[in-house]
Amino acid sequence: MKKLMEQMADELSAAFEKAGYDPSYGKVTVSNRPDLCEFQCNGAMAGAKAYKKAPFMIADDVVANLGNSPVFSMAEVVKPGFINLKVKEEFLADYLEQMAVDEKLSVTPAETPKTIMIDYGGPNVAKPLHVGHLRSAIIGESIKRTGRYIGHKVIGDVHLGDWGLQMGLIITELKHRQPELVYFDDSYTGEYPSEAPFTISELEEIYPCASGKSKTDEEYRNEALEATHLLQQGKPGYMALWNHIMNVSVTDLKRNYDNLNVSFDLWKKESDAQPYIPDMVEKMKEQGFAYEDQGALVVDVKEESDTKEIPPCMLLKSDGASLYTTTDLATIVERVKLFDPDEILYVVDKRQELHFIQVFRCARKTGLVKDETKLSFLGFGTMNGKDGKPFKTREGGVMRLENLIADIDEEMYRKIVENRSVKDKDADETAKIVGLSAIKYGDLSNQATKDYIFDVDRFTSFEGNTGPYILYTIVRIKSILNRFVEEGGDADAGRILPAVNESEKNLMLQLTGFGATVESAFEEKAPHKICAYIYEVSNAFNSFYHETKILSEANQAQKESFIQLLKLTREVLETSIDLLGFSAPDRM
Ligand code: ARG
Repeated sequence: MKKLMEQMADELSAAFEKAGYDPSYGKVTVSNRPDLCEFQCNGAMAGAKAYKKAPFMIADDVVANLGNSPVFSMAEVVKPGFINLKVKEEFLADYLEQMAVDEKLSVTPAETPKTIMIDYGGPNVAKPLHVGHLRSAIIGESIKRTGRYIGHKVIGDVHLGDWGLQMGLIITELKHRQPELVYFDDSYTGEYPSEAPFTISELEEIYPCASGKSKTDEEYRNEALEATHLLQQGKPGYMALWNHIMNVSVTDLKRNYDNLNVSFDLWKKESDAQPYIPDMVEKMKEQGFAYEDQGALVVDVKEESDTKEIPPCMLLKSDGASLYTTTDLATIVERVKLFDPDEILYVVDKRQELHFIQVFRCARKTGLVKDETKLSFLGFGTMNGKDGKPFKTREGGVMRLENLIADIDEEMYRKIVENRSVKDKDADETAKIVGLSAIKYGDLSNQATKDYIFDVDRFTSFEGNTGPYILYTIVRIKSILNRFVEEGGDADAGRILPAVNESEKNLMLQLTGFGATVESAFEEKAPHKICAYIYEVSNAFNSFYHETKILSEANQAQKESFIQLLKLTREVLETSIDLLGFSAPDRM
């Protein structure tokens, strides 16, 4: 369906044309003087030069040619030549009626749906999921959902880090602790045990221990590097250990992502790219892109217009081991082969920007992707604590995601029980649902590229620009609708009638913005736009609610109209939070 803004622009463009001007001047924007009007058209100002005429004369002509427009209740010329506009209440009510039956609530479905792969999450196997991976999961999930809503084919890939030094470190530490394990016996030819020689908690203790040792003990580090290399070469005992590490850790990761309401279509990993590496490297050599530099194999990726030094992209280390860049390049080869995507979007910490500049340039230069295939990087900022430094535990350690979630849920539980509107047995479940909204909204309401402060007190508050406030608003709407039905009302009866007061009209106008908001949030990879939008809608709803008697309205048709408007508001808010990746409870 056509958006309200487009319908208004159509009217104005026709009037510009009738008055003898170019119709393209008929653009309409939201008013920057809400005290005077709801929308405005600045076309006469823009056209003044071309027509060598005072802008207000053009504006006068246009308004005279608007005639008795069904769209506007007011079209007024103000000096020096703006056209101030207000929408006709009847027109607005009709628009919302159409929106309510539109499957996509006025979002225009993608004309040519694209295949878009999103690389997000990116946890490293065997390391506990920490808050650093939280943002990628939250932002990526939201962009995925929004893209799908618009009608694109979006494939989410978790791209596990399973091929790097951390694997060599764990193998090395295990070897030191239990050298008698068959995995380390080179003469062993039998089947390896199906049971892992460690549990997830042991695994989580082994990695930091090994990582600590490797920082002070040169020999230990070299051993781990060697183990990594042997693993990458496919040494059977190490592959068997790798399998155990994967099984134990992926089970744990899936549970964590489930709790976050984040899901992936593909559980691919760095190692899946391994089979593509030899051919890719060979081709890059043959084509003359890859050359040896101090034993290592590199591809130049600097460009003339660079203002800072972009070092060559390293393909293989001098010992032949592959690197982070190598697996990322080979993963592109695999993705192109399996999915032929129109775009690959990486949602990764912005501190990895240089890595992606190198990878993208190398992929283009060596022809791994078609010219029209987009490679995009959404680099997000750091989640900081109140001290402005990266978020840590109270003791100053790395905060585990699970603990962060537990802390928030506990705080939410306390607040909900304090409110006492929910029976105790529900409070636990409710705290989890509301807690997730606090975390996700707290994150997504900031522009992704910026650092932000994770403020537990603020994020869990029921007031202000927070997830719990949005949920509170939805729950309020649900409870009015429930009461209406309990009192014998038919929630499907009636239709939306013209607004009866300013706050109702304002709510209606806000609702019309849904389509444009979702489209631009996706276009600009900016979930924060959806947050800002639903905050406005919630505020508009709450003002309307405070100023209007809904259930005690005596006129039946009017009461039904309020109910239909509430239903649409709930639909817009619930669809929006689903795009952000959380949901609302029935009560709070
Ligand atoms: N595992 C990486 C990390 O923790 C993030 C992976 C991002 N995706 C990618 N294709 N490089 O830093």
